[in-house]
Order: sequence, then C-alpha cells, then structure tokens
Amino acid sequence: MGKDSPPLPVEDLTPLQAAAELEYLALEIAAHDTAYHQQDAPVISDADYDALRQRNDAIEAHFPDLIRSDSPSKRLGAAPAEGFTKITHTRPMLSLDNAFDAEDVSEFVARVRRFLKLDPEEIVELVCEPKIDGLSIALRFEQGKFIQGATRGDGTTGENVTANLRTISDIPDTLPPGAPDMVEIRGEVYMGRDDFLSLNKRQVEAGDKPFANPRNAAAGSLRQLDQTITAKRPLHFFAYAWGEISHEPEGTHWDMLEKFKGWGFSVNPLARLCTDIAGLIKLYDEIAEKRATLPYDIDGMVYKINRLDWQDRLGMVSRAPRWAIAHKFPAEQAQTVIEKIDIQVGRTGVLTPVARLKPVTVGGVVVSNATLHNEDMITKLDVRQGDTVMIQRAGDVIPQVVKVIMENRPAESKPYLFLETCPVCGSHVHREEGEVAKRCTGGLVCPAQAVERLKHFVSRNAFDIEGLGAKNIEAFWKDGLIKNPADIFTLKDDHEREIRNREGWGDQSATKLFRAIDERRSISLERFIFALGIRQIGQATARLLAKQYLTLTNWRAAMVAAIDPEDEAYRDLIDIDGIGPSMAEDLIAFFDEPHNIDVLERLEKSLNVADFVPPETGGSPLAGKTVVFTGTLEKMSRGEAKARAESLGAKVAGSVSKKTDFVVAGADSGSKAKKAAALGVTILSEADWLAMIEG
Ligand code: IVH
Repeated sequence: MGKDSPPLPVEDLTPLQAAAELEYLALEIAAHDTAYHQQDAPVISDADYDALRQRNDAIEAHFPDLIRSDSPSKRLGAAPAEGFTKITHTRPMLSLDNAFDAEDVSEFVARVRRFLKLDPEEIVELVCEPKIDGLSIALRFEQGKFIQGATRGDGTTGENVTANLRTISDIPDTLPPGAPDMVEIRGEVYMGRDDFLSLNKRQVEAGDKPFANPRNAAAGSLRQLDQTITAKRPLHFFAYAWGEISHEPEGTHWDMLEKFKGWGFSVNPLARLCTDIAGLIKLYDEIAEKRATLPYDIDGMVYKINRLDWQDRLGMVSRAPRWAIAHKFPAEQAQTVIEKIDIQVGRTGVLTPVARLKPVTVGGVVVSNATLHNEDMITKLDVRQGDTVMIQRAGDVIPQVVKVIMENRPAESKPYLFLETCPVCGSHVHREEGEVAKRCTGGLVCPAQAVERLKHFVSRNAFDIEGLGAKNIEAFWKDGLIKNPADIFTLKDDHEREIRNREGWGDQSATKLFRAIDERRSISLERFIFALGIRQIGQATARLLAKQYLTLTNWRAAMVAAIDPEDEAYRDLIDIDGIGPSMAEDLIAFFDEPHNIDVLERLEKSLNVADFVPPETGGSPLAGKTVVFTGTLEKMSRGEAKARAESLGAKVAGSVSKKTDFVVAGADSGSKAKKAAALGVTILSEADWLAMIEG
C-alpha cells in the first residue's frame, strides 16, 4: 500500500496483499522510529504514526501467520544512536497501547475484568495521569545513590545519559533512608513550553535550527555529548513507574507514587484515582480542556490498574503492559480561511510558502500562520488563496494545513501558481533535481539572504576584515550603508561622513575601519571564490576551482560559458575531481543571475584578485609524486601529513597501485604496506618521511 491510496478494509485483503502491506509498514514504521528517536526530527505527526501502527496491528490480528520477525509490534522505538555507551535494561521499558475514544477505554477495562475473571461488583481502581510528551528515562539508585540513567532506546537497550541526567534539578542525587537498596525509577524527561520557546529564540539568534516541539528539544538536549550544554537547558522530570527493585512492592500503584514523592521526585500533580469509566472520561475531558493552559505538552491520559497484584497477573503482551493504556487526545484542529499565501525567503534562499490565516484559536493558542512546506505540498493539497481549510497543531508549534474544505471554495478561485522569481529581490528561483525546495538564486543581492551572506563575506576564512564583524555588518545593513559585498569597498567614497559621525564611532575608529578595508583590496583567487558564498562551494572547492582556472577572468568566463551544458566549459567543470553535477548547478545558477554579475563586476573594479600561484614545489622530492599513508603516525595527524605532502606538490591517494611512488607506513600498517611491498613500491617509515619533508 502506498501512503496515499485509501487502505482496503482489513477483512478484504488477500494474504498476498496483507503480506505486502505488512512489509511496507515494517519499513515505514522503522524509518519513522529512527527519525523520531535517533534524529529527534519526526517527519509525520504523532497521529499519522499511530495510524500506521494501528493498521499494522489490525492486519496482524487478522493474519497472525503473516506476522514478520521484524514486525513493529515486537519493537519499541529505535536502537540507540552512536556516541553514548549502551545500557541493557534489566526489565524491558515498555510502551503503551492506545485508546482513541471512550469505547476503546471501556473495552480496555472489560478486557482487564475478563482476564482477571472479576465479579461484576468488584471495583477496578485506576490511576489516571497525563501522558507527558517527553522521553522516557530509567534512573538506577543503589544504596540510595543515583548511579546510572538511560534512555528507553529500543526498549531493551538504551543510551547511558547519566552525566546529562545529573544536571536535571528534579532528579535527586540521593534517596532518603528507608528507600529500597536498589530501585530503578522510571518517568518522563520534558521541557516546559515557555522554556522551549525561549530556547528556540536563542537557537535562531545563534543561527542554529529551532526545534520542532518541546519533545524534540528535550530529547536533543538530553542527548548532547557535551553535558555542559544539557546543563544549560531547562529540563524536568516526572516519575510515574519503576523497573527493577530490591523488594517487590505490594499494595497499589498510587502508594508507590506517594513514595516517589517522599523520596524527592516530582509526580504529576494532576494524577487522580478513578473507579469507573464515567470517572475516567470526566477526568479526560477536564484535562483536555486544561491542556492548552498547562505549562508542558501532554498528548493524552494514561490509565493504570491500581492494584499491583492485578498488574502482576495481567502481565504484558509483546511491547505493552495489559494493565495500562494511553487514551490519546485528538490533534488540535480548527477550521479557518486562508487570506493569502506568502512566500518567505530564508537565509539560505529557500522559499517557504506560508498560509496567512484568519486568526483562529487552536488548543488555546491563537494561530494566524500555517506552513505549507513547499510547492509539492501546495499541489498535493490543491490549496488556494481564499480556501477554507482545516488546520492542526499536532505537538508542533507551527500548525499545518490538513485539508481544504472543498464545499466552501469560492467560485472564482484559481490554482495557486508558485513564484518563478524571488518575492524579495526578483531573482530567478531554482529547484534542483531531487530537492523539494525552491531557492532564490540572488545570493549576493537578495535582502533576505544579504546579511548572512555579508557576514560570510567578511568572515575569517574569506575577506577577514578587521573591525567589520557580524555586529557591524548587521548595523550597516540595517541603515542601508552596506547592501551587498561591493558596497564594502566603496564605503569610504559613499558614506565617509556618515560613518565618522555615527554614534559610537569617531574619526579614529572610522579611519581604522577604512584602513582595514583597504588592506583587503588584494586577495587570493581561492579566498575570493569562497567569500562569494555560493551554495556548496566551501574552502576546499574554492581552492580546486582556483587551481583549475588560475585567474578570476578565466574562471568567470568559464562559469558563464558552462551555463550552456553543450559547451566544453561545462564538461571541463564537472571533470574536475571533487566537483559533481550538483555543485556545477549551483555555480551555474549563481552566474546565470544578472544581479550577481553586477556585484562581481563592481567587486572586480575595487579589488585586485591575485592569480592562483601553484605551491612552490620545484626542489621538493615529493613534487608530482603519489603518496599513500597507512598505519598510525606518531608525530602528526593524517590530516596534517596529507596537507604537508600536498603543499610539497605530492598527490595523496587512498589506495596503493602501480602508480604509487611512496607508501608512508606508520605503526600497525596492514595490507597497504604488504601490497606496496608486493608491487615494489618504496616504503618509508615515519622517520624517513619526516627526514624527506624537513630535509
Ligand atoms: S506509563 C509500563 N505513564 O508514553 C508503563 N507512560 O506511549 C510505562 N508516558 O513509553 C509507561 N507519560 O514514555 C506512563 N504518565 C505516564 C506517561 C507515560 C508519558 C510515555 C512513556 C511511554 C509512552 C508510551
């Protein structure tokens, strides 16, 4: 089944169709698990994810013979990410089955009653508490000391995040006397909404990507390899369950929550005991109502059988206990009208369509914008300006448009045509093969990208202009003194008086700045190319280009000629080792934009871009030779060795062949040294090599 075709009722599936769909679901769910648990970057909403799992469960229930060994129903989350040591949970960390309506809830209670063969008069008490949208954690205490904490991972093995957990103030370091000798407290680490919003603000200010929702922010913060970063993130913890314990508790779950409080843990203050379905539903409705005003995100309620002896008897099925269920809240949805579709241009030139909505309240938050992601999404939903749409906030801060209410579509409505030019600067927009995003090509002139590009232009590895850092660039840009890189070099001619009279500036600092700018009127070709900030053209590629074309005039002419894919210049470009078609496309797009050419021409007038000078290698014994490094070098890193060899005119290769001139063999060199010996290639020890390069 493809994601977009409506699913057949499970009863109508042939075994062949069922098997195919189970295979699809196993792969699909595994991919979403990885995105969610390891990359903290979900691609679908929780509701869509639940729907996939439900479909998988329904097919498996109907075709038990077809249950796969890699079935998602046998697995929880994703295996731990690289970077942390692994911890095997002594008792698996379980997940919960979901209930979506009152009927599912009463079926859960009925199942429990049937399983335990309870008399109809017997009261079933349930602990009810909000389902916190965070990440579950196990905390091990021995002799009253917190000794180890782990994420859930795949339920069996998680990541050792002890050091990071120690930075959370809700997690006690020691338990009071009377606590069990050994206990594993389980619960949820989460980030409050306000803290999440301020963290995102800081992320954006620092030029980092904001998190999609508080859950991702909490997970991303807890899984920092550097615990000092975690310490700066305001994380909290609610305790709600336990794993291994030295004395199995008796009595009730509720008693345990009380004990947790006595041991210094936070237990959710909204937890209640209920004795019938009506009570559960009443509490569910009350908390659903409060949901938007709570300081943290919740996505449902959890109901747990209170009596521990019953929990014991009920046990678990595959990945979830029979004694608990999660009653999910529906995604918060609302209907409104799209007044306008705007295109926003991000700092890297990506064009993002945004629906400007008639303000509407969704789950307590007034929403007036929704993202439409990209051109494909607009086409898929056939969203148009003036449409009435259903929007939803599914854990995420930025709501999405779910569907168009076609009955309300105005008669004069026309399909939305995506822009062919940038709404900010008028440059062409370009969509690369295999990419969903369209980008503005006006890199040097587009105001939406300008400031960031300017900062790059003056940065350390580019023009490196003293006294013209990010802060001044921003201020000058805001006041219209520098709008594109060429303006930097005409700043004195155009705005000298203004700068000398600027607040916080004086004659002295202005003179210093003009001098610093003058000092950079001569620049190497490779730095110049890098400074332009063309997409994908980093320092290494800039150097490759400089080495190939030698002069700015040559390079520019070749890039302009390469716009025609039939031209020899295009072949020459993609033949450069290290430059592929996708980089070539970005280079061409840059030169195909007249605004960029204007700036380049102005820059050429102000600057002296020095021709590329091949490194002086004449007398070097390595000039023109091919060198392979193998084994561990003691005196320098591989990276440094490679750079040194290249600076002396050698080519560094990764494998030994007949063309290899020298193999430098460090400690523990293996097959490469053997192959070199077999081919009769000269093998140098590290000492020989050092003598050669230093001599
Ligand atoms: S009880 C064996 N209680 O929801 C029962 N889980 O979808 C263990 N969760 O893995 C879970 N709030 O990460 C429980 N009050 C709560 C919860 C809660 C959030 C999470 C937990 C669990 C997931 C299942």
